[in-house]
Amino acid sequence: VAATPVIVAIDGPSGTGKSSTSKAVAIRLGLGFLDTGAQYRAMTWWMLSNGIDVDDPAAVAAASAKPTIVSGTDPQAPTITVDGTDVSVPIRGREVTAAVSAVSAVPEVRARITELQRSIAAEAPAGIVVEGRDIGTTVLPNADLKVFLTASPEARAARRSGELRGKEAADLASTREALIKRDAADAGRKTSPMAKAADAVEVDTTELTLDEVVACVVGLVEERRRPL
Ligand code: DC
Repeated sequence: VAATPVIVAIDGPSGTGKSSTSKAVAIRLGLGFLDTGAQYRAMTWWMLSNGIDVDDPAAVAAASAKPTIVSGTDPQAPTITVDGTDVSVPIRGREVTAAVSAVSAVPEVRARITELQRSIAAEAPAGIVVEGRDIGTTVLPNADLKVFLTASPEARAARRSGELRGKEAADLASTREALIKRDAADAGRKTSPMAKAADAVEVDTTELTLDEVVACVVGLVEERRRPL
């Protein structure tokens, strides 16, 4: 009997280990993987590259249908392109990171990217792990499992600093400040703010290793897959 596709939604603020966890869970369970933050970053990269004023919501809204954003969902080698250009490196840069909250707060941007996310999830043959901020609440409210990852601000800043390399590596205090500011913007926006779904399982990763978080989420998926 062919198993029905499994949809896993993993939400939470940055620095909680969302991406590493989601990728590892997808690999373990043979599912696809979608990083929705990368899609908002790709949209932001396109806006910046095309001279759109990212602080002008009307200008961002008017341009939001123009770029073609394509995500590859292999968890071993996820890809992201805009109009055929690989943007996986520039979307992690400081300029995009500073502008992405403003761009992702624009309703037209969210509507377009949400539609893209739903069609990618619907087409995943075995199912998919989708990570973001509003996956369990708005994008895939019927997900088989919803997880909301949290961690202390100190742990999140330390993890983020570890991810930044070379001249981009900021000191811990400024990373912590930028992170808290972005979370507040993401949780405070009007359209589809970052939020824990009522039926999400909250996992505090502050004291856990990546392997422990992955084992926990895989266990939750298997619990739900098991027929009663
Ligand atoms: O996960 P990340 O840091 O790459 O996400 C970048 C930004 O994208 C984040 O600050 C908020 C936005 N985002 C969003 O609004 N909704 C999502 N589902 C995912 C990300």
